[in-house]
Amino acid sequence: MTSSNQFDVLIVGSGAAGLSLALSLPTSYQCAVLSKSQIASGSTFWAQGGMAAVLHDRDSIEAHVADTLNAGAGLCHEDAVRFTVSRAREIVDWLLEQGVRFDYRDDMPDAEFREFHLTMEGGHSHRRILHAADQTGRAISEVLTQRATDADNVTLLPGYCIVDLINDGEKCVGAYVLDTQTNQVHAFSARAVVLATGGASKAYVYTSNPDGASGDGIASAWRAGCRIANMEFNQFHPTCLYHPEAKSFLITEALRGEGAVLQLPDGERFMARFDERGELAPRDIVARAIDHEMKRLGLDCVFLDISHRPAQFIKQHFPTVYERCLKFGVDITTDRIPVVPAAHYTCGGVVVDQAGASDLPGLYVIGETACTGLHGANRMASNSLLECFVYARSAARDIVDKQHLAPTEAPAAWDDSRVRDSDEDVIITHQWQALRRLMWDYVGIVRSDRRLEFARNSINLMREEIDGYYKRFQITRPLLELRNLAQVAALTVECALQREESRGLHFNQDHPDLNNDATDSILIPDRWPSSSIPNNLKHTLPQYRGDQAPECQP
Ligand code: FAD
Ligand code: SIN
Repeated sequence: MTSSNQFDVLIVGSGAAGLSLALSLPTSYQCAVLSKSQIASGSTFWAQGGMAAVLHDRDSIEAHVADTLNAGAGLCHEDAVRFTVSRAREIVDWLLEQGVRFDYRDDMPDAEFREFHLTMEGGHSHRRILHAADQTGRAISEVLTQRATDADNVTLLPGYCIVDLINDGEKCVGAYVLDTQTNQVHAFSARAVVLATGGASKAYVYTSNPDGASGDGIASAWRAGCRIANMEFNQFHPTCLYHPEAKSFLITEALRGEGAVLQLPDGERFMARFDERGELAPRDIVARAIDHEMKRLGLDCVFLDISHRPAQFIKQHFPTVYERCLKFGVDITTDRIPVVPAAHYTCGGVVVDQAGASDLPGLYVIGETACTGLHGANRMASNSLLECFVYARSAARDIVDKQHLAPTEAPAAWDDSRVRDSDEDVIITHQWQALRRLMWDYVGIVRSDRRLEFARNSINLMREEIDGYYKRFQITRPLLELRNLAQVAALTVECALQREESRGLHFNQDHPDLNNDATDSILIPDRWPSSSIPNNLKHTLPQYRGDQAPECQP
């Protein structure tokens, strides 16, 4: 770290989005990459299935666009879809240049004519998922981390957690950042700040996401005055391992792509009753079908069976899933896997343009934190890694183009002279569990107006208590995460209440039909200059109390 904490670009998050942005900037740009724990601690490391890319002659950009639009239930922005999908080849080339290795077809041993092995996932009409066995995220994360470690202009700062962005009234000029080792808060300044903090699926008690997916970037951007959209579309992955000690380990959709079938305890296959595409219907449909069957029959889980495929094939393509299930006593070459849905991906987020630029000049938002318009009401499998890379590289270009942004002055130091050490951490752990349980029960796969209203009221009460605690006590990472999680939970509920229809991932039993017009749910913070709010977007959170400024700031 430089002694002054001044950088050209401050990147918050070291997943696919943050690292690829750092590596796409010219080497003359000094940038810091923060991660709130180890560098490889985000969802990227855990991505299993792979990255969607049109690479086969029989596939086409048009088909990938059509599949994405179809999965997104009428709400994708077609320009964002085309922008992303058409850049996949370029991204694959860039990743290969960095040193990432994907699997090739093993029936084509001649190196000169080898083709990538492409797998299949829900919603895709072709095999187009590029992968490294079932450890694609790890393969990408390890290579990009090594490249960033080797780059002289990149400073990696694990254990640094953003508290809030610094907005000088016109633009974003840096961030207050907690050093989680010393519990000191430092002011970082930069010409451009990039939020790449991943999603917010920790808002739910059952999730496939690693610890840390608490929506910090979304909450910080909202407090800094950015619009947030489509938070009601939290994707539930249909198949996470059901085992008391498995912490919702994901069973990749690629298993279903390679023929795995879903069954009830008595062996009955049920997906055909819900969708003609069966197990390969888009995720919202499969997750809802499982939820429906579990509630109808009072089941703890359903089962996924791939044991009809040769054991050698299963072990070669799915080594991680095989090993992990074996650890819990399930041999997937012979046994069925007990599975349940779990919160997996935040389709909504901070509203950005094609350069990843947010409403606040100088602030870029990329990866799962952003709402680019690509996913609409339901993300198609394996489109998110692609989105991370496409928008990271586009943001890097825009940052370079806007070099004229004035160098920033050092922001005021953080003042914590009016707070003291907490003596009641139980409040944090209690609220953390209560909030995530509440979100699961009332804002889960199937919703109703009454449950959403109840969730809104309860979350508001929780937020009052959490804000009071935040004002009085020294901040810690758990407190910051709880504060952010409560903020994104409130935003999710507001978006869900705004949507009086059922579309994609949002199913409300009081409004089961689809409206004719597909509109985004956009929340606008008080801070937004009202003159620039388009008429059709006027909606603010009624409970929003302008809590954007760090309370202890001078
Ligand atoms: P992440 O990779 O989540 O990284 C977030 C980073 O932000 C981390 O470094 C974290 O430490 C940091 N951070 C967070 N908060 C703070 C803070 N307050 N201060 C400082 N740093 C912070 N998508 C696909 O396309 N294909 C797949 O096969 C696939 N499989 C998946 C499997 C699993 C189990 C999961 C959970 C997700 C999967 N996804 C997949 C989704 C995909 O992995 C993610 O959407 C994507 O990796 C997100 O990348 P990101 O860079 O936006 O964020
Ligand atoms: C999976 O491998 O099933 C996850 C893919 C994704 O979330 O895109």
